[in-house]
Amino acid sequence: MQFQLTDEQEMIRKMVRDFAVNEVEPTAAERDEEERFDRSLFDQMAELGLTGIPWPEEYGGIGADYLSYVIAVEELSRICASTGVTLSAHVSLAGWPVYTFGTEDQKQRYLKPMAEGKLLGAYCLSEPGSGSDAAAMKTTAKRDGDDYVLNGSKVWITNGGAADVYLVFALTDPEKKHKGCTAFILEKGMDGFTMGKKEKKLGIRSSPTLEVIMDNVRVPAANRLGEEGEGFKIAMMTLDGGRNGIAAQAVGIAQGALDHATAYAKERKQFGKPIGQMQGISFKLADMATKIEASRLLTYQAAWRESEGVSYGLQSAMSKLMAGDTAMEVTVEAVQVHGGYGFTKDYPVERYMRDAKITQIYEGTNEVQRLVISKMLLAD
Ligand code: CAA
Ligand code: FAD
Repeated sequence: MQFQLTDEQEMIRKMVRDFAVNEVEPTAAERDEEERFDRSLFDQMAELGLTGIPWPEEYGGIGADYLSYVIAVEELSRICASTGVTLSAHVSLAGWPVYTFGTEDQKQRYLKPMAEGKLLGAYCLSEPGSGSDAAAMKTTAKRDGDDYVLNGSKVWITNGGAADVYLVFALTDPEKKHKGCTAFILEKGMDGFTMGKKEKKLGIRSSPTLEVIMDNVRVPAANRLGEEGEGFKIAMMTLDGGRNGIAAQAVGIAQGALDHATAYAKERKQFGKPIGQMQGISFKLADMATKIEASRLLTYQAAWRESEGVSYGLQSAMSKLMAGDTAMEVTVEAVQVHGGYGFTKDYPVERYMRDAKITQIYEGTNEVQRLVISKMLLAD
């Protein structure tokens, strides 16, 4: 077994860490407070090659592996979880299915400009009545000549409003339920494709989350991704990798919170000594660090498997489950280490705690991860 990162992976970590500290951190608290998405940070990520990190150069990427990609999401999230999910949704949820199932024409029209950071992507599966039960979707797509006509709405769309390209799952044959689901690539500005309510959220507040509405949107058949009826499989396979991106986000949030808690424990004195010298605090830090390392190893392993072409759906569900729970536990403890100061906006740990919660909810709640894992364990 080889646990050492390559020189390239180390270089990417350093590059992203420098970017996160120098460019992302200075406005992180303010963007959170103002619920403001900053497209210029995405543009800067594009300049660093991050927006197309795992795609080959012919499609505008830098041809790095999935481990480099999760390291990038981790390092961004260590500083700002909203910036981490902007990249994760763009690469794993919008880019991956186009790379994997797209025609050459679709790759040239969408994947390449997405990888180059000219277009921002979003993934639209959830609906008001179908979250965990994704197959219960109601959005329809009716064939009409060379087009499909889409009707319905998708909720909770990360990068919504800001994104230029939207991957939408709709029923071309509602009778067949999930077997009648098909994937489409929609563009912002298509007639009848409008943005709905922007959510006001507990955490990841500088990542926009919007409803998108389709009212007789005509989508050319050339924008159908995969075959009719393949949509649910595409959605699920996309989430297999996406979930590991969220695991990386959770590891980054937890590590960032631990960094702040450790620094504070060295500096804050009570009873005549730094609180880090009290076992009640130092053991907390030890437990936090141990859980983070376990979560990181699961996350890196799943990414390594994806790069090697070995099955990774089970490992991704496990990494997201473990890392999401770790992020929540660790950030709560980081606030505790800060005492009353941790409960205020004078220190960043309250933001980390609010941001951590989403990692147990999106890309499948942690109950859904348990469903996925147990189904595989119990399969014949
Ligand atoms: N790969 C390929 N195919 C898969 C698959 C996978 N990982 N998982 C399921 N399928 C296929 C099955 O083989 C089956 O195919 P057939 O019927 O042709 O045999 C079909 O899909 C249905 O499978 P199930 O019966 O297992 O499906 P289900 O209806 O019981 O649902 C579920 C399973 C895992 C609960 C699924 O509905 C699910 O993942 N729900 C959660 C939805 C989710 O994660 N949403 C995230 C939205 S994106 C997001 O949140 C963005 C963000 O964070 C930024
Ligand atoms: P529900 O499915 O209603 O679940 C409610 C509760 O019941 C949960 O605790 C759940 O775990 C539990 N539950 C449900 N079914 C079961 C079961 N079978 N067994 C045990 N427990 C169960 N979606 C997208 O398509 N694209 C996006 O970009 C996107 N971004 C998001 C960003 C944010 C900030 C948020 C909050 C959500 C986002 N989502 C996105 C949607 C997200 O994936 C869903 O919220 C999530 O899948 C859960 O669905 P739900 O909210 O409808 O909860």
